[in-house]
Amino acid sequence: MTHNITANWTKRWTFILAATGSAVGLGNIWKFPYITGEYGGGAFVIVYLACILAVGIPVMIAEIMAGRAGRANPVDAMLDLSAQAGASKAWGIVGLGGVVGGLMILMFYSVVAGWALDYSWQSLSGVYQGQSAETIESNFGALTDSFNRQWFWQSLFVVFTGGVIAAGVTRGIGRAVEILMPLLMLFLLGLLIYSWSVGEVDASLSFMFTPDFSKLSTEAVLVALGHAFFTLSLGMGAIMAYGAYMPGEHSIGKTVMLIGALDTGIALVAGMAIFPLVFANSLEPSSGPGLMFVSLPIAFGQMPGGIIFGSVFFILVSIAALSSSISLIEPGVAWLEGHGVHRKVGTMLAAGIGWLGGIACIYSGDFFNALDHITANYILPLGGLMIAIFVGFVLSRDRVKAEVGFENDRNFALWHFALRYIAPLGILVVFLHSIGVI
Ligand code: TRP
Repeated sequence: MTHNITANWTKRWTFILAATGSAVGLGNIWKFPYITGEYGGGAFVIVYLACILAVGIPVMIAEIMAGRAGRANPVDAMLDLSAQAGASKAWGIVGLGGVVGGLMILMFYSVVAGWALDYSWQSLSGVYQGQSAETIESNFGALTDSFNRQWFWQSLFVVFTGGVIAAGVTRGIGRAVEILMPLLMLFLLGLLIYSWSVGEVDASLSFMFTPDFSKLSTEAVLVALGHAFFTLSLGMGAIMAYGAYMPGEHSIGKTVMLIGALDTGIALVAGMAIFPLVFANSLEPSSGPGLMFVSLPIAFGQMPGGIIFGSVFFILVSIAALSSSISLIEPGVAWLEGHGVHRKVGTMLAAGIGWLGGIACIYSGDFFNALDHITANYILPLGGLMIAIFVGFVLSRDRVKAEVGFENDRNFALWHFALRYIAPLGILVVFLHSIGVI
């Protein structure tokens, strides 16, 4: 099979770094805290954690397995695997859906990454030093009202993303993640310590971790499920595309547990750093996408060394966004490359579509919200559902067992059961409930 897998990531560590780089991004630091605030805290967080464990982890194992077994980009991996299993070619649609879904996510994702870039610049110019919460709040509004500023930074971000993709898979990604991801964690922990020393710790912990299920709406459950997919980069073949580069002898199960723990840990730390500041400054937890961009600058404006700390923090967030966004277009680019399109041309095409869509998002907040909503709440869980059914039922149990490489039979049986029944039923129930059928 020659689908142009140009590199094989021989070091287990490289795959883990790239997959973690994909998972950890704006979803953890920007989106998780603001949706937790919007959907009422504790009960939402518990449902989200349950979705990660019962649905996200099993589907992630399946997705990596399918990518590694297919040794190709998601579209061709699904086509080859279904042909080998004597199943319909229609399974290729799952891969295609991923290519399209990834571009749709890139459109709004690049706008938010642009905000983070703008904020690292603003921080350096000392804009938030000693400012009141109101001024900092209106400062965020000024950015989202400015077409030029958003356009400039969003364009820059898309150019960076395209540059890394065009340069090839192994070179660009691993190195950056290896150094900068631990640094980001360090900064987040520093921020957590600061926030706990000045903020409302008790109120924020009880908001995040005391569940009040009477406040849990149907929509909140759908959003929690969708976010489990979004934050782990599941449901669109991104992790499948990376799985194609994973060496055959490594245990997928252990790797996935590690990535899931890191990703969840970072989201929780981000939330625990942000909410004490939110409550201490009488901000609304439910204020939406601006939550991080308002609460954190208040802290940066008051802490010693906040100019540099804030600026580096937002740069690290932008880099985390970059290592995520490359996985949004890698499936599409790898697919085009496998069909004779030059990698650079494929990159230009994919990045160009993402860039134009990003501009549309800057023009229209409704378009921005619609893309976020449709991808996270429908495309990703549907993609995950199909992958679970495909790996759980279409591929033979023996093939799957040999490929996935669990050392322990009980663990395999547990995973296979979760993949066949718990994950698909969970997704279906949430879907049917959200459209009012049950
Ligand atoms: N997981 C990333 C984040 O949390 C976003 C992301 C990157 C993603 N690649 C993906 C989401 C593929 C879904 C599918 O920020």
